[in-house]
Amino acid sequence: MSDFVAVGWPLFIAIVTIAGLAACLVLLFIASRRKVMAGDNTTGHVWDEDLRELNNPLPLWWMGLFVLTVLFGALYLVLYPGLGTHPGQLRWTSQSEYESEMARGRAQVEPLYARFTTMSAAELARDPQAHALGERLFINNCAQCHGSDARGSKGFPNLTDTDWLHGGSPEQIAQSIAQGRQGMMPPMAAAVGSADDVRNVANYVLSLSGSPHDSIAAQIGRTKFTACAACHGPGGKGNPALGAPNLSDRIWLHGWGEEAVVRMINEGKTNLMPAHAGRLSDAQIQVLAAYVWGLSNGGATTTAAAK
Ligand code: HEC
Ligand code: HEC
Repeated sequence: MSDFVAVGWPLFIAIVTIAGLAACLVLLFIASRRKVMAGDNTTGHVWDEDLRELNNPLPLWWMGLFVLTVLFGALYLVLYPGLGTHPGQLRWTSQSEYESEMARGRAQVEPLYARFTTMSAAELARDPQAHALGERLFINNCAQCHGSDARGSKGFPNLTDTDWLHGGSPEQIAQSIAQGRQGMMPPMAAAVGSADDVRNVANYVLSLSGSPHDSIAAQIGRTKFTACAACHGPGGKGNPALGAPNLSDRIWLHGWGEEAVVRMINEGKTNLMPAHAGRLSDAQIQVLAAYVWGLSNGGATTTAAAK
């Protein structure tokens, strides 16, 4: 009801609904009154030369169904929310139904996870059953962004390598999953200077990883990198506390080459990993974090091993 700010609306809806039900009954009543027709009990209409319309009463079963439908509608409106703000005698809400289903689901899976709560991430990563559960959780909750092989794509980090934006310990991974992460780089062009300055510092960034670059431009751009070092560190090695990526390796989250780096400097980037604490239980997050950690730390590797 929050869509309707004025109190009049719920009342209006209730009146229209009740009037509609009443109109159904009135219509039925009028239609079922038998009008006596002249002589041969026809309406007097004739089509195709000899087709005449008889004035027979409505069949009783049809009337009965009609009345039942109207009664059902009335009863439904008493029991369930349907009349404006009236909550219904059963006090049913979609929210409470959702919550009770979720609670039932959680109660069902909890015993499955009981065995895992005391295990370390390394043990979990090697445990075939935990691995299988982790894999399934990953496919259901994470694969749409990170890929079913967890190798990510542009903008979505690869979780199978040892390069981490926010840290790769099981605890840091669990935190990424539970609380989500935001990588935020502001547009930096103003701090760097002219378009040439931007291009120069971009070439300096490319030189850090030994990627193809213009070495003279890189030389000039070097001093401008101080604006970047606050987040990416003096050598561009990155800073997990800020989610600032390592710029001295050849792993690029947002694309490779001068053009991509220049765009990054000019436009900045806000990248969001959604929090999952509300959707997954603590035990599920623990199992999932161990699974992700295991992808780059020698966890059980194949689904076959998990069966
Ligand atoms: C809506 C897309 C989306 C979904 C769903 C999603 N992620 Fe992410 N995830 C991201 C993005 C984008 C980032 C990068 C955030 C950044 O740039 O700082 C990220 C970052 C991460 C990180 C940190 C990586 C690093 O290098 O530090 C981990 C770990 C992670 N996700 C695991 C998961 C797991 C496990 C799931 C499933 C429960 C999941 N993600 C679901 C989009 C998503
Ligand atoms: C306020 C902190 C901050 C500053 C200052 C900053 N960056 Fe960033 N930068 C980030 C963060 C955080 C990301 C990751 C964004 C994400 O999670 O998607 C990033 C990403 C990047 C990327 C993409 C890396 C990849 O793997 O694709 C490049 C390139 C980059 N920064 C270059 C620079 C340059 C050059 C400067 C200086 C002109 C700079 N940054 C200044 C925080 C910063």
